[in-house]
Amino acid sequence: MEEKFRFIEVALTDRRQHQRFRSLQSVQPIDAVQIQRQGKILINFSSNDYLGLSKHPALIAAAQHYTEKYGTGSTASRLVTGTYEIHQQLEAKLAAACGYEAALLFNSGFQANATILPALLDRQSLVLCDRLVHNSLIQGILTSGCRFIRYAHNDLTQLETELQKAAQKSYSRLLIVTETVFSMDGDRSDVSALVQLADRYQAILYLDDAHALGVLGSKGMGLAAHQGVDIVIGTFGKAFGAFGAFVACSQIMRDYLVNCCPGFIYTTALPPAVIGAIDATLTLMPTLEAQREALMQQAETLRQQLNAIGLDTGQSSTQIIPIHLGPEEQALQLAKTLETEGILAVAIRPPTVAKGTSRIRLALSSQHTPNHCDFLIQSIDRWHQSRFSVSPQNS
Ligand SMILES: Cc1ncc(COP(=O)(O)O)c(C=O)c1O
Repeated sequence: MEEKFRFIEVALTDRRQHQRFRSLQSVQPIDAVQIQRQGKILINFSSNDYLGLSKHPALIAAAQHYTEKYGTGSTASRLVTGTYEIHQQLEAKLAAACGYEAALLFNSGFQANATILPALLDRQSLVLCDRLVHNSLIQGILTSGCRFIRYAHNDLTQLETELQKAAQKSYSRLLIVTETVFSMDGDRSDVSALVQLADRYQAILYLDDAHALGVLGSKGMGLAAHQGVDIVIGTFGKAFGAFGAFVACSQIMRDYLVNCCPGFIYTTALPPAVIGAIDATLTLMPTLEAQREALMQQAETLRQQLNAIGLDTGQSSTQIIPIHLGPEEQALQLAKTLETEGILAVAIRPPTVAKGTSRIRLALSSQHTPNHCDFLIQSIDRWHQSRFSVSPQNS
């Protein structure tokens, strides 16, 4: 290897030595909850397609229809010739559905968080963010060069103490940044308490609603909609079954982002097929109440069963259920065992989560049947029991 590329070898060798080398494995989707990997059909408990909408005929038909009508690409950035009437109409519908003056589309949740935050912040700003927020939010905060403090997970007492301290100083901007449903833990933040704190201390409240959108809240529009949160980020690649993201905010904030957010300005607009799929999901959303209820019920049952066999699911109260196992090897071992039995449930380990907090992250879909869940719990139970059984040669 040429000397100039030595850093690559060093980084990859380090990852291999620590069993953290990652590689991509392709899968073939079969339906909303089954995939095929290396010729084997697996029940998928790791997808964020929480309502199985990515295979819904209405989304597929809308994506096809918009493609036929408008073409495969939107051909330019929004400020050049990439704003079609379908982009504007979708934004108006999203704003109304979330109870905001305005909404603005982004090409992904990562792109939104990584670029809206630096547009809002400068080096004299302070961000108070939950310790467990998603990497895209951290990237946005770091890019801005602002001062930031990570408060203990969901610890609003610590948050208030930091807000009190901040009130004594003269920061250019004060932001609270957190999620409504935490992606790796499946627990929730207290949105109304956050709104009150933000009001009391004149902070801007920025909430990422990625894992609640479609699944929780009034008509499935998430936990931050209609709550008076300053800036709400929603993503379409999860329960919405499509791709992309949006921000719901005031009209003046939308104008500001259109003018000052590079991640909006310097990128090609979302393609018509994606706009069609999102629009179809938005139309379906109010009709999916029964699916959302069934999903939450199934998640509660699964949590109770996991707890009954002695496994720790933390503070999960949503469709995301972590099985906390601690050491990486345990999480990897369970994932491997499940895969041999026909279940895909990916192990989450550092650096995605803190050292010693490795877990299996189960993501339920309303399309999982009770049989799928029974099969999962039986397989997990067998593995869990085998951990404590003494082999004959050791007895
Ligand atoms: C909380 C949160 N925000 C943002 C994102 C990024 O969204 P996208 O996949 O649309 O880039 C994710 C995705 O994993 C997420 O979990």
